[in-house]
Amino acid sequence: MAKKKSNYENLIQSEKLPLHIAIIMDGNGRWAQRRLLPRTMGHRAGMSTLKEIVRACSDLGVKVLTVYAFSTENWKRPWEEVDYLMKLLVEFLRKEINELHQNQVRIKVLGNYSNLPLECQSEIEDALQITRDNPGLLLNIALNYGSRQEILAAVKVLARKVAAGEIEPDVINEETFSGLLYTKDIPDPDLLIRTAGEMRISNFLLWQIAYTELWITECLWPDFSKDDLLQAVWDYQQRDRKFGGLNGERQDGINA
Ligand code: FPP
Repeated sequence: MAKKKSNYENLIQSEKLPLHIAIIMDGNGRWAQRRLLPRTMGHRAGMSTLKEIVRACSDLGVKVLTVYAFSTENWKRPWEEVDYLMKLLVEFLRKEINELHQNQVRIKVLGNYSNLPLECQSEIEDALQITRDNPGLLLNIALNYGSRQEILAAVKVLARKVAAGEIEPDVINEETFSGLLYTKDIPDPDLLIRTAGEMRISNFLLWQIAYTELWITECLWPDFSKDDLLQAVWDYQQRDRKFGGLNGERQDGINA
């Protein structure tokens, strides 16, 4: 029997899709806790949700999906949990790479993954290599990512160039600065979804979300479904984006 289309699916306007959706996948621990399960089981359930949401974004025709999988601050968690997350990343890439590749998904990593266990690094390298020419959805996985660190690294590059006399401070603009971030050449997110209800940004894409629409839901990440995604997109389409002006022109000149 064919699956019933959700109400939101019928309401979404394909010409007004967000080009770039970013997601803070929060609430795995709480999901597990409520079921008296170890936190790691919440992360495992979160991985299933991730698969479903990548597929949904790809089917919907979203161009870029950025997910916050591991922050620079997540190293503070108990060793067992960090280790589990690293193993889950390897499992995700190993199991999903064929389907992702078939669906033309291109994988990119935001963050310094050279500090991750060697097994993760090699799985990441393979995934980047296999999918590098794919024209479909760009899946950015933020790993060992921190936005302040990203911004500081860019500032240091510019400071060195100025000190070496290679550039004049006055020529530094938003474009040159954006070009030094992991998201170089990628349009800023149009929509940022955060699950599990927290009203904060948690060091995620601070520069890039200057004009991004925020959508926060109480739903815990393992419970987040394609329908929730469609609701977020529909909600986004009801908003009037002004980018600080009156008639809603994007800063980067891309028409969405
Ligand atoms: C936040 O939930 C979630 C994370 C820190 C990890 C996100 C990871 C996944 C969704 C697993 C699959 C992805 C890959 C690619 C490894 P939390 O643990 O902070 O939840 P809580 O706030 O309820 O404790």
